[in-house]
Amino acid sequence: MAFKARNTGFRIQRRDVFSSRIGIVAAAAGSAVGLGNIWKFPYVAGNNGGAAFILMYLFFIVLIGMPVMLSEFALGRKARRNVHGVFKRLAPRSLWHIVGYMGIGAAFMILAFYGVVAGWSLEYIVNSLSGAFIDKSPEQIDFMFDDFVRSSLRPVIWQLVFMASTAFIVVAGVKKGIEKYAKILMPLLFVMIVILVFRSITLPGAQQGLTFLFQPDFSKITTTSALEALGQAFFSLSLGMGALMTYGSYIGQEDNLGSITLQVSVADTVIAILAGLAIFPAVFAFGINPAEGPGLVYKTLPVVFQQMPAGSFFSAVFFSLLLIAALTSSISLLEVVVAYFVEELKMTRRNATIMAAALISIFGILCSLSLGSVSIELFGRNFFDLLEFISSNLLLPLGGLLIAVFVGWILKGKRIKKEISNNQILHLRFFGVFMVLIKFIVPIAITLVFLSGIGLINF
Ligand code: TRP
Repeated sequence: MAFKARNTGFRIQRRDVFSSRIGIVAAAAGSAVGLGNIWKFPYVAGNNGGAAFILMYLFFIVLIGMPVMLSEFALGRKARRNVHGVFKRLAPRSLWHIVGYMGIGAAFMILAFYGVVAGWSLEYIVNSLSGAFIDKSPEQIDFMFDDFVRSSLRPVIWQLVFMASTAFIVVAGVKKGIEKYAKILMPLLFVMIVILVFRSITLPGAQQGLTFLFQPDFSKITTTSALEALGQAFFSLSLGMGALMTYGSYIGQEDNLGSITLQVSVADTVIAILAGLAIFPAVFAFGINPAEGPGLVYKTLPVVFQQMPAGSFFSAVFFSLLLIAALTSSISLLEVVVAYFVEELKMTRRNATIMAAALISIFGILCSLSLGSVSIELFGRNFFDLLEFISSNLLLPLGGLLIAVFVGWILKGKRIKKEISNNQILHLRFFGVFMVLIKFIVPIAITLVFLSGIGLINF
């Protein structure tokens, strides 16, 4: 009895809960909307031929992403635990808790390169403010980027600044840290992107970019691009490693998980498409290569800003918002590890955060250096690309698959229905469809895309 009372007290004190409905959506959408939408989506779409890839991506969002997101929210809220604890609690004495370790591993890898890319936007804020892009040709801006990421010191310093900021917010906790900022800054980011879209699509020569974005050429779909699209869907929605599961554990009992899922997915997709609309018309108008790779956004947008009145100012605002979008995402990644350290390893929140951020930063430094001075290569990829590939394209879809199997086959349908319907209060018209997707379609689709993407089966 004494133990029980202490245990509850412990939980109330430690477990934060989001304070409002709008706060949950802002935080979860804040996690989803980030570098994945603005930096990664355009460049993987560019690498994989544009429109056909985007269609496939949208298809995966609806068919696979949304059911997995709802599952993550439901599992998290049901167990009220970190990603490892969820499986330990819902499937005790089984191997399911390994999914939790996979998630923590994925969080490590993603945050390592994420911090590097977010650090780049700090450099770009400074460059915008100091007028470094003014009167530069697209070639010069291209060169500036390559030169910068290959250097050893500055990218690493910015990465560490970014990681420290992430840690700072995570120490503050969910309500005072994550929720407060996300509510104001995410709408502002939206407005900025819309302005950019207008500038971009009115550039002479923009038409080709729109064609690239919207006119699918299905001959460009390959098994590798399908795997990329699937990985991107998971990455962009923050799925497959327990970030939204962890957030789900902070969602109140009366909130409607289905409608949160819908809102977060729509917001994420809209921002990705808008980012594409801001970037590709300009890419073609200025003769930049759409398959430029990870530098695409950083090479294109400064050029677009030079075409606008008060370009340096808008450029600084934009990269600041990108930084904030990255922060609201990185905190969800760090939170996965911190919640695990706190709940399973019984560390204090402060120590857990410092330790997780420090360990991840070491990987991040290697990641940044692998782009220039230090050559770390495995399987023909540098360390940066390797982490990105293993986490997004392998661990996240695999995690999603296991989450779907767990919800569809291990938990009883009744239990999951009870959680999603808030104990039968909500009337769920979509539940039948959801169960079919999560039991059959999601696992089969992920398995097929996965095995063909890594070359184990051939169509
Ligand atoms: N979704 C974020 C983005 O698009 C990145 C991110 C945050 C993430 N949390 C995640 C990706 C969890 C995968 C899993 O930038």
